[in-house]
Amino acid sequence: MSQTAPARERTLIVTGAGNGLGAAIARAAAAAGWRVGVLDQDAQAAQAVASSLALGAVALQADISDERSVQEALDRFAQETSVAAPDGLVCNAGIVRFGPLLDADVADFRAVVDVNLTGTFITARAVARRMIAARQAGSIVTVTSMNGVAPGPNSGAYGPSKAAVALLTQQMALEWGPHGIRANAIAPGLINAGMSEPIYADHEIRARRESSVPLRRLGTAEEVAAATLFLLSDDASYVSGTELVVDGGVTMSVIASLPRPQSVDSVGDNFSAAASATEPGKPGTSRDR
Ligand SMILES: NC(=O)c1ccc[n+]([C@@H]2O[C@H](COP(=O)([O-])OP(=O)(O)OC[C@H]3O[C@@H](n4cnc5c(N)ncnc54)[C@H](O)[C@@H]3O)[C@@H](O)[C@H]2O)c1
Repeated sequence: MSQTAPARERTLIVTGAGNGLGAAIARAAAAAGWRVGVLDQDAQAAQAVASSLALGAVALQADISDERSVQEALDRFAQETSVAAPDGLVCNAGIVRFGPLLDADVADFRAVVDVNLTGTFITARAVARRMIAARQAGSIVTVTSMNGVAPGPNSGAYGPSKAAVALLTQQMALEWGPHGIRANAIAPGLINAGMSEPIYADHEIRARRESSVPLRRLGTAEEVAAATLFLLSDDASYVSGTELVVDGGVTMSVIASLPRPQSVDSVGDNFSAAASATEPGKPGTSRDR
């Protein structure tokens, strides 16, 4: 008689999981059956999130820009879970310092690069080394931003650091793929959570931003978490080196907001009318409705 072995518990570390998107990712992962290491530089925040999760979540206090601090956190997670390397890692911790480039403080610029880019490198490499040493496949997801896809005013090193993380993620996919490690990025857009929440307390700004998104609303931390979980999961087993933009379509819609002469729009209407006239049974143009 054959016996099915119990599925092995899968382990995951999420950085910056004491708040915002990271906390939502940790919650969604725990609900999907992952045992989660809730890593944050804020020990209390990490503990609060870990305590709210089932399946023996572990709070890990660490600064991702400090290699020794990250190694100690990984050692603790290995001890608590009795596995040498986690199956998954989400490099989510990040910071922003706003201000015009002309006035940007060099220390602020360095701090953002240090956490967002160097911190992602330190954490991802430390985990990848453990995965490879344990001959274990794995999945790494980095959290970039729509600001790394297109520049935003007054965000200093933030956008450049996120663009660099996107390329770093591709480099991980290239170099670590032969070891069975997938690496992908999630680029959130206008999300009403975490570091962006204060922006949306201003109702006028919120309404104007919502109207510029093709889906006409802000995204939620849970929607970012769902996309992250997909990339972590076996459903994405052949997806590596990609950046999944989770933004309701706003990043790609810049041309739509440019002013156009009326004649251009009417050319579009004529084209649609002609197309529907040649295809019986197709819905008509907006003029017909
Ligand atoms: N919220 C958004 O709208 C949005 C949009 C696009 C991208 N992002 C990205 O998503 C990620 C999470 O953003 P958020 O809005 O949840 O931010 P947040 O500020 O709410 O949470 C970030 C967490 O990271 C922790 N952290 C910061 N520096 C750290 C370090 N050196 N070591 C360990 N932990 C550290 C903080 O303590 C905090 O708990 C960031 O990388 C951010 O750039 C957010």
